[in-house]
Amino acid sequence: MEPKRVYLVTMGCQMNVYDSEQMERILESVNYRPTSHMDKADLIILNTCSIREKAEHKVYSYLGRLARMKRRRPDLMIGVGGCVAQQEGCRLIERAPHVDMVFGPFAVKRLAGLIGQVREQKRPVVDVDQTGTVEPSHIGPSASQAGRATAFVTIMSGCDNFCTYCVVPYVRGREVSRTPRGILEEIEQLVAKGVQEVTLLGQNVNAYGLKNGHGCDFPTLLEKVNRINGLKRLRFTTSHPKDLSDELVGAFARLETLAPHIHLPVQCGADRILRRMNRGYTRDDYLAGIEKLRKARPDIALTSDIIVGFPGEEERDFEETLSLVESVGFDNLYTFKYSDRPKTPASRFSHKVAEAVKSERFSRLLELQTRMTLDKHRSLVGSIQEVLVEGLSKKMDHQMRGHTACNKVVNFSDGAACVGQLVPVKIVEAFSHSLLGSPVKHSRPYSGDKGGILHAA
Ligand code: 5AD
Ligand code: SF4
Repeated sequence: MEPKRVYLVTMGCQMNVYDSEQMERILESVNYRPTSHMDKADLIILNTCSIREKAEHKVYSYLGRLARMKRRRPDLMIGVGGCVAQQEGCRLIERAPHVDMVFGPFAVKRLAGLIGQVREQKRPVVDVDQTGTVEPSHIGPSASQAGRATAFVTIMSGCDNFCTYCVVPYVRGREVSRTPRGILEEIEQLVAKGVQEVTLLGQNVNAYGLKNGHGCDFPTLLEKVNRINGLKRLRFTTSHPKDLSDELVGAFARLETLAPHIHLPVQCGADRILRRMNRGYTRDDYLAGIEKLRKARPDIALTSDIIVGFPGEEERDFEETLSLVESVGFDNLYTFKYSDRPKTPASRFSHKVAEAVKSERFSRLLELQTRMTLDKHRSLVGSIQEVLVEGLSKKMDHQMRGHTACNKVVNFSDGAACVGQLVPVKIVEAFSHSLLGSPVKHSRPYSGDKGGILHAA
């Protein structure tokens, strides 16, 4: 039978990317193939994010456009998955009656059945039941993953931390870890298909295995993954600073595949606000963690998340954030303006910060970090970096694109470089979001030394 076409839109974090790949494999099993043309799709799925108000608005404006399409093509099936689906449930159908299917992250495994139900019952179905196992139903590369050099692997779901601004514990539920055996099997399959780099995903990977009794904590899991034959680079995200153990810091010194980069969201530099955020660490604790990491791995790249304008944040608190950013010297920052999220304690806090003040603080922080990122990038000009070739450059024709071990984007021209190769590249120019490189001639086939800078020119 002629396959049907699915157009999948993935919004938000890498865990949604992983969930979308799951959906793709499940849909493959019921004869759907991905299409990049929305007009040709029989099924359109939005995999949504509700972490900030702006992300949720984006979903509703997308659905507005799809309403017009559904009027023209009543047979088109529209599904909304992910965190907005989980958060809104039936309300989503009331607001957008042209939607056929609402399913949360827990219902991804039930997707094939839901599609059958929509067809039979000819009315919308909603599945926001927070039950089911954390193990994916299908592993191995999906059609769109085939031939890729990098892959994500979710190792746990949910979060128990209840930071006062965050919706994640309400939409993704409690922390549950996958078994080490399931994770290792999945990575082995990916590596067998040519994947060179794997990023382990979870809201707080440092808590992996702590409550499930699999007898394997996160540093132990890293050790096991590090031993997988053929895997060249290992990354993970996200780590909570309060759970940064000495064993995890030590892993950066010990494990040869573990890339020298950690994303460690600090959120704010002022203790008063960190307490109101329920983060469980102080500014000094955070700085001590950074010092340990740099001692273990001097070339480690550091990135972080910061929220500006949390309720009650005053100018002096924000200045503490600026001074923390200056003193750490992050490689990059993801900066967000605080927005209220449903059910969260902070949404009920008083002393909300005016939008204009948030915007002004946001610009000041962005300006500081852009300058610091550019300085870091400029210091790499002349060095030779090991780059994992991931595909064609997004902007420049005839250029290849990849990441350094420290996770910096490099575009470079090299007619001989193939996807999945680790190649030495000389950095010739620095920009704020990427580096420009030129290939280095190497007499023997280059398999890649594990590590960061090979040598400075
Ligand atoms: N408002 C603004 N930013 C938020 N984040 C999480 N919740 C909110 C919110 N309510 C940010 C945090 C988190 C990142 C993924 O999103 O910085 O680390
Ligand atoms: Fe949200 Fe905090 Fe959990 Fe991160 S650790 S997902 S910010 S509640």
